[in-house]
Amino acid sequence: MSILVTGGLGYIGSHTVNALIEAGYSVVVADNLSNSKAQVLDVLQQITNKNIPFYQIDVTDEQAVNDLFEKHPIEGVMHFAGYKAVGESVLQPLKYYQNNVLSTITLANACKQFQVKKFVFSSSATVYGDNEVPFKETMSLLPTTNPYGETKAMGERILKDWVNSDSSFAVSLLRYFNPIGAHPSGLLGESPNGIPNNLMPYVTQVAKGKLKELQVFGNDYPTSDGTGVRDYIHVMDLAEGHVAALQHVTPGVHIYNLGTGAGTSVFEIIQTFERVNAIKIPYKIVNRRPGDLAFYYADATKAKDELGWYAKRTLEDMCRDAWHFEKSLNLIQIK
Ligand code: NAD
Ligand code: UD1
Repeated sequence: MSILVTGGLGYIGSHTVNALIEAGYSVVVADNLSNSKAQVLDVLQQITNKNIPFYQIDVTDEQAVNDLFEKHPIEGVMHFAGYKAVGESVLQPLKYYQNNVLSTITLANACKQFQVKKFVFSSSATVYGDNEVPFKETMSLLPTTNPYGETKAMGERILKDWVNSDSSFAVSLLRYFNPIGAHPSGLLGESPNGIPNNLMPYVTQVAKGKLKELQVFGNDYPTSDGTGVRDYIHVMDLAEGHVAALQHVTPGVHIYNLGTGAGTSVFEIIQTFERVNAIKIPYKIVNRRPGDLAFYYADATKAKDELGWYAKRTLEDMCRDAWHFEKSLNLIQIK
């Protein structure tokens, strides 16, 4: 029996494939390569020393998904596949609803048809909206500021309704905070297409000289140094959180924040990156980015209490590993 990992060649999915195999699971990967490269599969096979069955399919394609379930006995699904660029989702909302919502429905239908009982869903802290900090799983969700966020809230809702209709299914909704960092080998990491939207990939590209300087989006927030505060989590910790969620999942719906519980400002990221990597990050302060919240971080106690999982790696590890990956990129030609 295998775990089907959709989007398994993407940033978080690839680290989770590695973590699952390390934990002794067999894995099948489905990815349409819309935001990843086939070479990531080679890297994963090299790191894990395992042959990993791979299907280059679109998981909104019902026939292709059902064919895969026919061929492989699947024990559970981890659903990472989706689009994630917030700005693009505002410009192309239908593309986001089509991919992110339809993929979830298609996979849940296949699980129903093939009696696959375990489902782990990539959700996001964005579903909390402008709630009180720290974000806690029991909070009522507030509207998000963009279609991407809405697709995550809808995905959660669809899966909850599904389990309400048949309580034999076991679903884990994982709300990620801000994953950064990379596999310590420097072989797996985040390599966004074009100019990065998110902070850490922008910082590493400035460090490399690909981009001139970081723009800090606002220094007038009500935070300790005026810059935005987030709960950054090492992607390796996040990946291990998925394994813990899968190991503990029981019938019903279970929601977990995957974060560290600590907030870090943009200036603290810059300073830590500069210190551990001995590189200067030139920056300038610009206006706030529309839609950004001042600060948020997780209440991470539920995952610790129920899954026995907590984030172990430090901000220093995140900054070091992110830079190690960026430096290695040209060498391994993933991008
Ligand atoms: P990613 O873009 O690196 O990975 C997504 C993968 O899914 C890519 O390899 C892409 O090719 C694939 N994919 C997309 N649509 C597909 C489809 N229809 N069929 C098959 N494959 C498809 O993104 P990521 O950062 O690894 O994020 C993974 C998941 O976690 C996404 O659902 C994302 O919304 C969610 N998430 C990410 C973050 C983050 O900060 N990265 C935060 C919260 C939630
Ligand atoms: C963004 C998404 C969010 C998604 C999350 C993880 C937006 C509005 N939100 O969140 O939906 O769940 O990524 O993928 O895009 N910053 C800069 N300069 C930059 C980039 C970022 O100063 O060039 C600041 C931001 O203002 C923020 C912090 O860095 O304070 C983190 O930004 P980012 O990495 O984009 O993540 P989020 O805004 O938390």
